[in-house]
Amino acid sequence: MAILVVGGAGYIGSHAVRALHEAGRDVIVFDNLAQGHRQAIADAPFFQGDLRVKADVQKVFRKHAIEAVLHCAGCTLVGESMQIPGRYYENNVSGTLNLLTTMQDTGVNRLIFSSSGALYGEPERIPIDEEHPQSPVSVYGHTKICVEKMLEWFDAIYGLKSVVLRCFNAAGADPSGQIGELHASETHLIPQAIYVAMGGLEYLPLFGTDYPTRDGSCVRDYVHVCDIADAHIKALDWLAADKPSAVFNIGRGSGVSVREIVEAVQRVSGKKIALQAEPRRSGDAAILIAGCNAAKHELGWKPRFNDLSAIIETALQWQTGAAKSWS
Ligand code: UFG
Repeated sequence: MAILVVGGAGYIGSHAVRALHEAGRDVIVFDNLAQGHRQAIADAPFFQGDLRVKADVQKVFRKHAIEAVLHCAGCTLVGESMQIPGRYYENNVSGTLNLLTTMQDTGVNRLIFSSSGALYGEPERIPIDEEHPQSPVSVYGHTKICVEKMLEWFDAIYGLKSVVLRCFNAAGADPSGQIGELHASETHLIPQAIYVAMGGLEYLPLFGTDYPTRDGSCVRDYVHVCDIADAHIKALDWLAADKPSAVFNIGRGSGVSVREIVEAVQRVSGKKIALQAEPRRSGDAAILIAGCNAAKHELGWKPRFNDLSAIIETALQWQTGAAKSWS
């Protein structure tokens, strides 16, 4: 029996595949390679398919004996979701529905879902715990709520058990330097800042300088992607122990502003990063910081990368190394 990693060639998915290998688990990767990379999964068994095409999903479940599913697929860009909302509902919501109905048809009843801290919207209190009201300011955040609601009903009606991991800002790369974040059109802050430091971009746009934060720029909770992968493994173990469906925030519990990220990338790279102030980006909340007590106490999860510079070092090593031969 294998673990099916949907979106396993993507950023979080490929790090989860690696962690599963290290834990000695059998893995099958399902990915449409729209954002993912074949190189990211080395020799893991691979099935190229699209969640939006139900026949693709059915095929992989017919072909392999699947014990549980890690679902890390979908569109992930907050800004883009405000320009192309249909793509987000189609990929993230309809695609996931195909997965859930196929799981139900084939009797696979354990799922780990990579959700997002973006579903909370502007926080009423900091840190944001799992009981915090959900009022997303982006389509992307809303697609995560739609899926989480579907999961509640599939559990109540069919007994499909899930662990939802509300991941905050995934950052960094595997310390081996062999895999990392590489999107066809990159918009994330840390890779963009590194591109500027490497001379590939002239300046970094700073989206919003008048947020109610300590320096006017948005504050986020950056958590290392290997720690997120580790949370996925712990969540699998949780369900394997017949525990109930659950929801956990995954972050470091500490907020870093956009300007502070820029300073950290300058410090780690030793290069100056030119900034250009631009208007706020639609869909951005001012502050997102995770309360992670539940993951720590119940799941037994604890981030190993607690130092921002160490996180950025791994991203820099990846982007100045192996990533260049992938693009
Ligand atoms: N930013 C800039 N300039 C850039 C890029 C980003 O100022 O060139 C700012 C953004 O406006 C935002 C912050 O940097 O305030 C972080 O932006 P990212 O695009 O790196 O990340 P997001 O917070 O928008 O979203 C990310 C993932 C989501 C995930 C979310 C959880 O893309 O999938 O973190 O908080 F759900």
